[in-house]
Amino acid sequence: MHAQAKPAFINDAPTKHQKLLAWVEQIAALTKPDRIYWCDGSSEEYDRLCAELVATGTFRKLNDTLRPNSYLALSDPTDVARVEDRTFICCEQQSNAGPTNNWLPPAEMRATLQGLFAGSMRGRTMYVVPFSMGPLGSHISHIGIEISDSAYVAVNMKLMTRMGSKVLDMLGDDGEFVPCLHSVGAPLASGAKDVAWPSNKHHKYIVHFPETREIWSYGSGYGGNALLGKKCFALRIASVMGKEQGWLAEHMLILGVKTPTGKKHYVTAAFPSACGKTNFAMMIPPAPFKAAGWEVTTVGDDIAWIKPGADGKMYAINPEAGFFGVAPGTSYETNQNCMESLKANVIFTNVALTPEGDVWWEGMSKTPPAHLTDWQGNAWTPDCGRPAAHANARFTVAATSCPSLDSEWDNPNGVPISAMIFGGRRSTTVPLVTEANNWNDGVYMAATLGSETTAAIVGQVGVVRRDPFAMLAFCGYNMSDYFAHWIDIGSKTSQTPKLYCVNWFRKSDEGKFIWPGFGENMRVLSWIIGRVEGTAEAGESALGAFPRYGDFDWSGLSFDERKYRSITAVTQSHWRQELKLHDELLTKLAHNLPAAMRVRYATLNNTL
Ligand code: OXD
Ligand code: MN
Repeated sequence: MHAQAKPAFINDAPTKHQKLLAWVEQIAALTKPDRIYWCDGSSEEYDRLCAELVATGTFRKLNDTLRPNSYLALSDPTDVARVEDRTFICCEQQSNAGPTNNWLPPAEMRATLQGLFAGSMRGRTMYVVPFSMGPLGSHISHIGIEISDSAYVAVNMKLMTRMGSKVLDMLGDDGEFVPCLHSVGAPLASGAKDVAWPSNKHHKYIVHFPETREIWSYGSGYGGNALLGKKCFALRIASVMGKEQGWLAEHMLILGVKTPTGKKHYVTAAFPSACGKTNFAMMIPPAPFKAAGWEVTTVGDDIAWIKPGADGKMYAINPEAGFFGVAPGTSYETNQNCMESLKANVIFTNVALTPEGDVWWEGMSKTPPAHLTDWQGNAWTPDCGRPAAHANARFTVAATSCPSLDSEWDNPNGVPISAMIFGGRRSTTVPLVTEANNWNDGVYMAATLGSETTAAIVGQVGVVRRDPFAMLAFCGYNMSDYFAHWIDIGSKTSQTPKLYCVNWFRKSDEGKFIWPGFGENMRVLSWIIGRVEGTAEAGESALGAFPRYGDFDWSGLSFDERKYRSITAVTQSHWRQELKLHDELLTKLAHNLPAAMRVRYATLNNTL
């Protein structure tokens, strides 16, 4: 028998990695693309793919003087956000996915996916996108390969990750990688004209097989559904890897803080989607703090991989290399560093277009332009009663465009973490800032985090849902096992960071935010750093330590004590209600719930 000739793309492939080649061959045989293209990650390639996207109508090139080398994509109106109800964790035992994840038996899901992916790339190019989550060669980093039939995905991956040939070089002939398969689920009949935003209106599946560390995503071209390095790999699959290997994959920004004495600290902060992580990560301290020597720098705005070091500290890297942030609400007033990052080399999705060929979104300026093209491509005027940009409109930009980028952001050893912050969007109940008494109490605080939902997720906006560690949608295994993993890692780490809970979002009876937020959050951050360094004073509440009015540096802000009380009060009636919701959560998560959780609940229930 003659050996079967290999397809040309295998002979031409820029790798000799047999497992990778076999996978690409197998997926090509299943999905039947017209062409296969291996991304090299060069800027020539980026420019060429963007030009192709312009030619096919997916991208519009923005005015090169106003917004150099930048593009606007308008998605299909049915494909605008992460689809949590279509997101699955398919491990063998349902109990390992736990009550917070959608689950189906792997064999059943594989059969469904085989059917959907069969011929799904017909008429399209299959892009093979090698990427590293984290600095190349870092002992904390991991490699993924995304196969996608979307050029939009390929160019976004170039901005969001370390992508291309250098990753294949690092992978060598037998390195480990996470296979990430993506199809928009819109095969093109021969000669058929494509639409600007191909997707599948009927079937969407975002599927994770944690035991074999595979990702299969079908039917959506949008954000976390399609850029598989982000939520699918760096959180859901990585959380499982971290549990097995003794590290943490978290929905956290990482920032650097330099104090007036020149000491540098790094802090991580977990918030649910669209709660201002990018704003906090790029914060500019108020003038008196700046003058005193405080500086805030950015390591990451969404995800942290955290590993205990030999010295007993925890070290974090940002596995991403770019920002995929929510545009609406971003302005020079709310986030100057972000606006500066967005001056050039940006991909915008679902924002509005100005007549001059620039972009606009709600909140970018106080007075909207008189005429725009909205995110659905329709003429828009300020009085038309519709938003110009979708509430979950996004920008994609490389981290290196950010003026506040920390000098250590790409350090393969990561940065040592002094404190970790957990926050939600709560108009009542939760005080401005609380310091946990110890690691396990902090784990309880993070585990019981609640937040009012936002437009980042398909579904109802503004209802409080429990979002443990801001990981509800992102933990790839049983949430109670995840709490146990946190407790375990804490018990094995000699210099654990201090843990805090914050809430910037308390509202007055008139429904207005009371705390000014944004740069003023520096007052909270500097108090936290003071606590880490042992210089800041605190009062004690049933929840933990907290700054009394006199414990804050108020220079440059008039915020009276009465107002301060209204955002720091621990109101018993509210907490009786809150504890009921904690109880509901703990009951739901009873299987494998660490005993420390119920112990802390009992203490709070007895004291509040
Ligand atoms: C994100 C999200 O896109 O959390 O970061 O939804
Ligand atoms: Mn996020």
